[in-house]
Amino acid sequence: MKRISILAAVLAGCAMSASALAADLVAGRALLEKYNCASCHGKDYNSPTEPVYPKLAGQHEDYLRHALVAYRRGDHGMNGRTNAVMALQAKPLSDQDIKNIAAYLHSLPGTLVLRK
Ligand code: HEC
Repeated sequence: MKRISILAAVLAGCAMSASALAADLVAGRALLEKYNCASCHGKDYNSPTEPVYPKLAGQHEDYLRHALVAYRRGDHGMNGRTNAVMALQAKPLSDQDIKNIAAYLHSLPGTLVLRK
């Protein structure tokens, strides 16, 4: 009996950590609204308000994550991204925020394509 309850506790712990690590699309969308990222990247993240703002919809999730972490970190001689506008945008974001945002943006339909 004792062994079963220990097993149950271990399994519950696994389930909890899995949900903490998983990306949350709803939270990602809420963060984009909170920080008004659409004001530059466009309401559907596929039609930027200026040509210098990149399209984000449908972009690879790991690329988006990497980009946001690099903006947040800055260069520091480590090949980070140094764009002043995006450094400010990325500054308040936690690792989990970045994960959620990247997952949501990746899930959106976009016109970015891979050409062979
Ligand atoms: C004031 C305009 C502006 C706002 C607001 C803005 N961005 Fe950006 N974003 C830019 C610009 C400009 C770049 C390109 C910077 C560069 O050259 O590295 C960029 C680049 C990016 C990139 C890298 C894309 C790529 O293809 O490399 C990501 C990801 C991104 N923004 C996400 C966000 C998120 C998430 C928010 C909201 C928290 C946000 N942006 C808000 C202007 C903006």
